[in-house]
Amino acid sequence: MQKDSIPLANRLEEVYGTDPSYLGEQHARYTALHSRFVDLYGCQPEFIVRSPGRVNLIGEHIDYMGYGVLPMAIKQDTVIAVARGGDKLRLNNMASAHAEQDFSLDPAQEVDRDNHSWGNYVVCAYKGVHEHLARAGQPAPPLFGLQLLVEGRVPQGSGLSSSAALVCAASLAVLAVHGIAVSKHEVAQFAAECEKYVGTQSGGMDQAISIMGQAGVAKLISFNPVRAEDVRLPDGAMFVIANSLTVSKKAVSADFQYNMRVTECRLAAVALALACGVSPVEAGQRKLLAEVEEVVAAAAGGDAAAGVDKLLHDGGYFKAELEELLGVPLEQLLNEHQLRCVALAEKSTGLWLQKRARHVFREAARVPQFRAICHAPDLGTEAKLASLGALMDASQASCRDDFVCSSTNLDRLVAACKAAGALGSRLTGAGWGGCTVSLVREADACSFVAAVTHAYYDDPEQCEAAAGEREAHGGSLDHVIFTSRPSSGGAILDIATLGLGA
Ligand code: GLA
Repeated sequence: MQKDSIPLANRLEEVYGTDPSYLGEQHARYTALHSRFVDLYGCQPEFIVRSPGRVNLIGEHIDYMGYGVLPMAIKQDTVIAVARGGDKLRLNNMASAHAEQDFSLDPAQEVDRDNHSWGNYVVCAYKGVHEHLARAGQPAPPLFGLQLLVEGRVPQGSGLSSSAALVCAASLAVLAVHGIAVSKHEVAQFAAECEKYVGTQSGGMDQAISIMGQAGVAKLISFNPVRAEDVRLPDGAMFVIANSLTVSKKAVSADFQYNMRVTECRLAAVALALACGVSPVEAGQRKLLAEVEEVVAAAAGGDAAAGVDKLLHDGGYFKAELEELLGVPLEQLLNEHQLRCVALAEKSTGLWLQKRARHVFREAARVPQFRAICHAPDLGTEAKLASLGALMDASQASCRDDFVCSSTNLDRLVAACKAAGALGSRLTGAGWGGCTVSLVREADACSFVAAVTHAYYDDPEQCEAAAGEREAHGGSLDHVIFTSRPSSGGAILDIATLGLGA
């Protein structure tokens, strides 16, 4: 098999490693999925596929501005059993709260953005596969009915990319059942594009790491075209993920949070290009801050973030000022989602270009620094851990103060993690809720988890939410605060060799 092919796993060990108790848990999970599939659809699944969530270690809100990011895949994943049958796209979910959803087989169908549901992500993937094949000049696959059963273990709205895990797994399910071989980087690319149908303008990090993740290594993911480079984390480093227990659903809050930031960054790129003397026609084509960094840096002695402070003003920009500055109506520069954000900003405090661009340039610089520290041959472990921790802390400060994508609970949780001895701690993913990731020494991980549990989850502010989680999970918070190692990426599992349903 080629290095860039989606792996076809014959045994669960190939995906989940060899720890007997974890493997036993997965075997039980897959067996339950298989048997429910047979009950629901009256036939055996043809394939089971899986794709994981991720934790981003450094490089937040910069992928959609053209910069590399440094995440790792986590073990929590979405698994889908699939078979041909019927004349619809039939979706069921192992979670009893999710009723069956049926969709047409028309690849041109619209995704119903006003009604957010997990099924929409599967439709995105279905459309994405068809569009990818059309773009690649390959014949359209036959339109036969598909029956899917989904089981997701990536907590939703937690910043760990449950949506990308679902889109990527659904893409693999559609590809597998049609017998279409597509490379990892192709899936990463089209899965990122098709998720836009739900209305978020996200970058490609989540889908890329979900598909390209690998056990034992984090990845530096770069874009245009998407590619992944191994990053070996220092021995003795452990990352602890902790959920703030505030849900943040990117697709639901897109207009005033995620897409708002994309819009601010896009406008900052044009405004900076103009301020640096780029012609108006060319400046209007600069969609990414990465495309203007060089000219902005040149305007401030090589430091792009300093250039931003010089060339843009603090506080909000409003439509009239921007149109005068840019010399064109914003309708000519922005898409429908971005224009909605502009309209919202008009009624509020405007679009904050300086702070957002400053964050992007500074955060982008931390990514290669993080990789360089990990791989520095002459640096001892303690020095590496201290330097990585400092980068993570700086990232959190920038997300909080300049990008304003943290939240009261995230700040409180980060403070609890630092007080418990984290070498570095920051929000991970889009923010505004969801999880933090903290760097600790492996030997300290257990005491760290205990201290954070005491300080945050047992705190009167959080204890109600934490009690709910404990109740739903047999008294445990293991799914709320846990250590994480780099895990494997998306895979198709060969149903014939898994030994299920015997
Ligand atoms: C979400 C998006 C990613 C990325 C992060 C922030 O997870 O899907 O593309 O932009 O937010 O870093």
